[in-house]
Amino acid sequence: MGEYEKKLEEIEKRIEEISGAANAAAVETLRREFLGKAGPFQDLMKGLKNLPPDEKPGMGKRINGLKNRAAKALETRLVELREQLGDDVSDLDYTLPGTRPTQGRLHLLTRTIEQILTVFQDMGFHVVEGPDIEDEWHNFEALRLHADHPARDTQDSFYLGEDRLLKTHTSPMQIRYMEEHPLPIQMVAPGYCYRRDPFTSRHSPTFFQIEALMIDKNITFAHLKGVLVEFVRGFFGRERKVRFRPDFFPFVEPGCEIAMDCPFCDGEGCRVCSQSGWIEILGAGMVHPGVLEYCNIDSKANTGFAFGMGVERPAMIRYGIDDIRHFYENDFRFLSQF
Ligand code: PHE
Repeated sequence: MGEYEKKLEEIEKRIEEISGAANAAAVETLRREFLGKAGPFQDLMKGLKNLPPDEKPGMGKRINGLKNRAAKALETRLVELREQLGDDVSDLDYTLPGTRPTQGRLHLLTRTIEQILTVFQDMGFHVVEGPDIEDEWHNFEALRLHADHPARDTQDSFYLGEDRLLKTHTSPMQIRYMEEHPLPIQMVAPGYCYRRDPFTSRHSPTFFQIEALMIDKNITFAHLKGVLVEFVRGFFGRERKVRFRPDFFPFVEPGCEIAMDCPFCDGEGCRVCSQSGWIEILGAGMVHPGVLEYCNIDSKANTGFAFGMGVERPAMIRYGIDDIRHFYENDFRFLSQF
């Protein structure tokens, strides 16, 4: 039996398989295999020219016959499947994996803000929000950032006109809240802040802060310390150490800067903490008596603390993100990782 003959028999056998195709998709695969460009009939036809002349017509007929049989078998199987499954579902391949609908999620920054606020809510702080557009009184004057203070330079703020600017920090919410609420006060105020900073890996002209304020009789630095240590450990882990160092802000006295030991090297010194072992996370202090008086609170009878922290930095530390711009570029490939 010639090789040619063998091939034909093989194809004949394979045509029998068509009647067992499990679904329309399988039929389609077989159809491509038999009748597509790379199918066996094309080859066989080409090979005809090598046969002795008297065999050519007979063989040609057989090949065409097989081709027709394959086509017929495919059609028949498809009709059978349609009858079994009904017309609308005949093309469904139940063995294919389904398409998962894309699920929305909260932005990483939003989730970090919510987590931080939860730590404070658990300690009894109310969450309040203020306007993005501020006047100079709330953003500067009432916080004792007087006209000659360098932070008031128009280079640093986005002014929208006379006495109108995008808030440069969340501290104006201290003033707004004290103006409107009786004591005792225990609030946190999340909000976007805006400064004329270049957009680099560590700085963004838009960033997020959370302000906290607690005012009552006999509130001391010990309360500030207790709340902040609890926050750092609640958010970054119970093993964190917290460092307090003197710092200056016109609206607090005394003022301080709070850092925690670097969670990446446990204070040993690494790239994240610039080899210092510490990461600064917020500014804080006891509210200046002058600020209380501006808000008609008796500074002899009442005291309190305030602090303000950025949110991007803690999020970057917690999730190992090395560029603040990722938060604001809305690249779905970045966002969908979290
Ligand atoms: N508002 C200050 C800043 O933006 C932070 C701060 C808030 C400091 C409250 C002390 C008290 O840098």
